[in-house]
Formats: sequence, structure tokens, C-alpha cells
Amino acid sequence: MGEYGNLDWRDIASLISRTDDYAWKLYESDPLRRSYILEAIEYLQLPAGSRGLDAGCGIGLQTMLLADAVGPDGHLTGVDISRPFLNYGRAIAQKAGYAQRIAFEEGDIYKLPFEDGVFDWLWSADCAGYGTRKPLPLLQELARVVKPGGMVAILVYSSQQLLPGYPVLEAHLNATASGIAPFNRDMAPEAHYMRALDWLEDTGLEEPLARTFVAEFQAPLAPEVRTALLALVEMRWPDVRSDLAPGEWELFERLTRPGSPELILDTQGYYAFFTETLFRGRVPA
Ligand SMILES: C[S@@+](CC[C@H](N)C(=O)[O-])C[C@H]1O[C@@H](n2cnc3c(N)ncnc32)[C@H](O)[C@@H]1O
Repeated sequence: MGEYGNLDWRDIASLISRTDDYAWKLYESDPLRRSYILEAIEYLQLPAGSRGLDAGCGIGLQTMLLADAVGPDGHLTGVDISRPFLNYGRAIAQKAGYAQRIAFEEGDIYKLPFEDGVFDWLWSADCAGYGTRKPLPLLQELARVVKPGGMVAILVYSSQQLLPGYPVLEAHLNATASGIAPFNRDMAPEAHYMRALDWLEDTGLEEPLARTFVAEFQAPLAPEVRTALLALVEMRWPDVRSDLAPGEWELFERLTRPGSPELILDTQGYYAFFTETLFRGRVPA
């Protein structure tokens, strides 16, 4: 696994309580995410020495990767609404050697606790656009804290193929309420985060651009990847029983329940992927 400053990914486990389910999931999912996150960061070509904001930073793993991208003269602020996550972020960043280059602040992305134009760029992964509130005021708020000419970048989960050979089951799972979350059937199509290019345009941001990154996995799976994929299946499709056709729930259980002899992840030729899409625009100079 990859490194975060002085720490290997495995070292970070001792800094997070396993009973803290959400924080542990953010940690556990890292082996699935790290490579395309690095690709997305590389794609943005963040200027060395720049100041960035990680909006909805969670436990701060990406904040450290972003800090690496801007180098020793750059600076990152991680903002999150969860105080416990920020405490984890601080503890991890401190141990990993980023204490001087990363600050963590409690705050709401809908009302950021910063003056106008204080950051060179803003990054928000799996946070901005996930709520049910109107996207335009949110995008305006994100753009407000970025300097003229600076960039606003939003990364969202966009698709997956996790059950090879079962396209009907997977299509049905994707059509459940959990499968379309955080969107729901009552929302306007324009509110879906895959319409974020329109959000960027409507906010007056320039050069709107979308780019999709792929995380892919092939058997034999490393143990940490296998564990994280099982957690991803659980997270993508919780509470789907009543939304599935008769017999499909049982099939889903047999294919994905840990310990099942038919566990699909353990088939010899298992191959799966998911995608995350980056939307970015530039604040007019
Ligand atoms: C799925 S996690 C993503 C964390 C991190 N960006 C990552 O990709 O690992 C979503 C994060 O957004 C935070 N969050 C949710 N609503 C927020 C809000 N209104 N303002 C700030 N943070 C928020 C949550 O506390 C959580 O840390």
C-alpha cells in the first residue's frame, strides 16, 4: 500500500477506532481509491506552492495527497462538518509529518468559514453535490473562497461493475433507491451531480471540464482490496431487499455475503471496476 508522509497506510489503522464505523470505512476504502485519486490530482496540475481547500475532507487522507502535490511551500486546509473526523485528520497528519502544511477547520460547505478568494483552488471528493439542497448556491459558495483564475474541482462516484456475469441483477440493484442515492426519484434531473457541468456554467465558472477515472481490480485480490470491495458492495446497495424481484435477494446474498461459498469476489477470473468523475471549472480572472 501507499505511503502518507512518514506513515504507511497500515500504520494509520492504529489511529482510528474501529467502532467509529464511518471513519473506519473512509480508512478501509483507501486501497480502492488511492490510485485514481492520485491520477485525478495529477490531472489537475495543481501549482507548486499553492494554497488549497479540501472541502469535506473526512479523516484527511486526500488532504495529505493534495499537500504532496503542491510541495513543501504549499498549504492545505481541510474543512469538514464532523469534529471527530477532523480530530482523526489532525492526529494522522501530525504523525505523518504534515502538521505545518495542513490545517483542519470545522465548517459547513454551504457556508464556509473563510473570507472571499483566500484559496488558489478547491477540491471536494464525494461531498459537494451529494446533498439534496440546490446545487447553485453551493457552487457559488465554493467559488466564493477561490481566487480569480483559481479552480473548483468536484469528484463524484459515477458507476460500477462489481458483479460480472450478473448484468440483470446488477442493473436491478442500480435501479433501487440505494442504487441511485444520493439522488432520489423526486429530484429534478438538473439536480443530479452528473449534471455538474451545467452547475459550473450556471455559476459563471470558465472552462468547465469533466473527466472520468477508473478504479479496477482483478483476481487474485489483495486481502485489503477484497475487504474494501466487500464493504463497497454493502455501502452501494444497503436495504435493497424490498426493491428486488423474487429470488434476486437470495442470489445477491449468495454472491456477496462474506463467508458464502459462492462469493463472487473469490471466483478465479473476478474483474470489477468503478468510476469517479471529476468536474472542474475556473473562477473568472
Ligand atoms: C464520503 S465522505 C468523503 C471524505 C473525503 N473527501 C474522501 O473522499 O475520503 C463525505 C465527507 O463530507 C463531510 N460532509 C458532509 N456534509 C458536509 C457539509 N455540509 N459540510 C462539510 N462537510 C460535510 C462528511 O463529514 C464526510 O467527511
